[in-house]
Amino acid sequence: MIAHRGSPEPSPFSPGYGRRPLVFGGHGVEIAELTEVFETADFGENQSVLISGLRGAGKTSMLAQLQDAARANGWLVISDDAGSGLMDRVMETTIPNLLNELAPDSGKRLTSLGIGQLSAQWESVERSRDVRPLLRRDLIALSTVLAERRPHSGILITIDEVSSGKARLRELSRFALEISHAIGEGANIMVVFAGIKVDLDALLEHDHTTFLRRSRELDFRRLTPAETRHVLAESIRIGGKTIDEDALDLLVSFSQGYPYLVQLAGDYAWRSSEASPTISLADARAAHGRAITAVERRVISRVFQDLSEMDQRFVQAMAVDFGRTKIADLVQRLGVSDQYVQVYKKRLIESGYVQADGRGHVSFSLPYLGDYVRSMASDRPDADGRGWDHHPPPSRTGRGQ
Ligand SMILES: Nc1ncnc2c1ncn2[C@@H]1O[C@H](COP(=O)(O)OP(=O)(O)OP(=O)(O)O)[C@@H](O)[C@H]1O
Ligand SMILES: [Mg+2]
Repeated sequence: MIAHRGSPEPSPFSPGYGRRPLVFGGHGVEIAELTEVFETADFGENQSVLISGLRGAGKTSMLAQLQDAARANGWLVISDDAGSGLMDRVMETTIPNLLNELAPDSGKRLTSLGIGQLSAQWESVERSRDVRPLLRRDLIALSTVLAERRPHSGILITIDEVSSGKARLRELSRFALEISHAIGEGANIMVVFAGIKVDLDALLEHDHTTFLRRSRELDFRRLTPAETRHVLAESIRIGGKTIDEDALDLLVSFSQGYPYLVQLAGDYAWRSSEASPTISLADARAAHGRAITAVERRVISRVFQDLSEMDQRFVQAMAVDFGRTKIADLVQRLGVSDQYVQVYKKRLIESGYVQADGRGHVSFSLPYLGDYVRSMASDRPDADGRGWDHHPPPSRTGRGQ
């Protein structure tokens, strides 16, 4: 058969942080349950939700799914990152914009509700008051207007990229306090925070976050083999190609259900097939090495950087073994007490890096972390693969050497 030689179809895969997948795999139960809240405004245990998971596990993509479901049910969405200035951005820009969209004529009424710095139109009123503008008031006002226009709807607030900088956590915990007050006053609000586990835990330790301690926690790990297969096969089908069964098997097995890697695997295989309507085993093989290199560089390296120095030493000591590692060996390699090792082990297990693997043993639960750590530790003569290691730059002349 003569291969069709048209221009290649664009790839349906989306490897990259915050890039939404065409086919969102897994988490069906949680999405259905949270969508039900958007339909009924009956919150149950879903007033606040914490989404934790390692980099590239799909937290931001999940927030986007929830935002869509909320909007589809007439909810308002406030979405931001936990960076500094969060409170000001939400109060000065986001909420005024939402209000203007919802009720362009409601300025007067809102002033009577005591809403804070809403827009130029209300600013003069605001300046004359000596009450500090509070997010809780803005949220309650927004919620009041919303309830009049769209009963049974509410406000979804999603805050991504929760990180553990002290100043940021302090601001975030104040933000949480304002939300909890607004909820206490009857505003229909669901708040969802996303970040890596240690950072979310640090947030929960703050004052003002009592109500977050009752949050529903969703811990994002890997997709199951069936979910992984579905994402790959369905994306390829929608993209307009087919894939041979053995090729699909290989992509599923090396991507290990790690969402970012699933996208990379599919993307490289798709591109390798060029204008052919079918992705073959040869394409999947070509994708293999490239996808692993890319995930190590773009994802695993950042996952490693997120670890504290001691945690890094711990995983380095584990990476000496190619399979599982004996706890007793870690005690020896690290030169610390058994108790000390247990504390670190527990934390690394909770954050999704490591798993218990039989009595007294641990292994990596994040695929390719061990390989990555080993590749960093090994004295490769040519560290970046460009062949410059034996050609160091000359020292500058004329400096009295
Ligand atoms: N459920 C999923 N099914 C298929 N692909 C997914 C899924 N979730 C995320 N992805 C893909 O994985 C990659 C990373 O997703 P995302 O940016 O949401 O991760 P993240 O957890 O927010 O990462 P980070 O911690 O760095 O912010 C993207 O390419 C996205 O398209
Ligand atoms: Mg993200």
